[in-house]
Amino acid sequence: MRFFATTVTGLEDVAAAEISRLLGVDVVTDVSKVFFDASPEGCALLNYSAKSVNKVYLLVARGEATGLAEIEGLAAAPSLVELIDRGQSFAVRAERHGEHDFTSLDIAAAVGEAIIESYKSATGVRLRVDLNDPDVEFLAILRDSDFILGLNTTGLSLHHRYYRVRHHRAGLSPTVAYSMLMIAGWQPSESLLDPFCGSGTIPIEAAIHALNIHPGIRMENLAMTRLRIFSPAMLRQLKERLMSEEESPKPLDIAGIDASPKALADAETNLEMAGLKGCVNLSLGDALNLEKFIKKPFSKIVCNPPFGVRMGLRDPYSFYTKAFSSMRRASPGASLTLIASKPVVVARALEDVGWTVTGERRIMLGSIAAHIIKAEQ
Ligand SMILES: C[S@@+](CC[C@H](N)C(=O)[O-])C[C@H]1O[C@@H](n2cnc3c(N)ncnc32)[C@H](O)[C@@H]1O
Repeated sequence: MRFFATTVTGLEDVAAAEISRLLGVDVVTDVSKVFFDASPEGCALLNYSAKSVNKVYLLVARGEATGLAEIEGLAAAPSLVELIDRGQSFAVRAERHGEHDFTSLDIAAAVGEAIIESYKSATGVRLRVDLNDPDVEFLAILRDSDFILGLNTTGLSLHHRYYRVRHHRAGLSPTVAYSMLMIAGWQPSESLLDPFCGSGTIPIEAAIHALNIHPGIRMENLAMTRLRIFSPAMLRQLKERLMSEEESPKPLDIAGIDASPKALADAETNLEMAGLKGCVNLSLGDALNLEKFIKKPFSKIVCNPPFGVRMGLRDPYSFYTKAFSSMRRASPGASLTLIASKPVVVARALEDVGWTVTGERRIMLGSIAAHIIKAEQ
């Protein structure tokens, strides 16, 4: 069976590497998604374990389409009898990228009609549409003339982690936090510092990775539990096996620092909700004077510093030079991976205080561009 997984635009290679590691398959990258072959069990494993992926879809149809009639033809072709029970309701969501003389709502309507008609001609049953709480959800994507129809096996995006009960106003998506740890090349055997930890996303994702915790196991209502290609016995056995492979919580060499007592309290709450109280060292401190707050150098620093006037940053260059030189003083030899919205200012500040920028990539957080920058001393 062919599947695709969605991720943040710019992090497709990280998702591909994770899927390849988890399933041992070849993965082909595309814009904000990756394609691969898997069994239903492999797909279930991704929903339970993957940390760089948002949703996993069964690929139902793919082909060239320039108009709604061709889209309808592609959507009507596959047999959906094996995928949808007669009593189940469905919905179609649609995305459109490029120049077309119809809207994404038109695509959703055309695909919905095709699904109803093809199911009816195979079974005599007219499927029920429920746009608010469907049993089965399809995603139709038209990028220029490339049409893709997928069946959502995940439900709500996996970036809604089970532990996130406290949200920071500038909180980082856990999918991006995990991906930054991979881009940093962080290994659980290495020490890790996030000197702007906010509600704790980066340190908690690191601890989850280090202890082989499968976040999706704790997600409620994964869509695959309502899909007939996933047997309940297979899902139960897989879940039990994955849980038995998780390590017990223990103190890790992972630290988070923040100047805000409120952010730190939120980070502690999230850490506790993750079941990892005491695994990560969270403390109040000033990232501009780190040597006062940390007693030993860390191998890797991964962080999401404040950006923009809304976060009180009137002079970003001056703030960043102070932060980056404090990191060098407190943690000589550490490598640094950070996410920021102003790559030119960040790169200049890094180079001016003795860091060498070794990598940069642009990712899209919704419609906003952000840059992940790597630097060495
Ligand atoms: C963009 S937010 C980090 C959000 C975090 N990654 C999360 O997911 O919750 C930046 C954080 O830097 C903290 N901060 C600002 N100035 C600081 C300083 N001088 N030292 C330490 N933390 C600081 C803010 O309190 C804020 O929590």
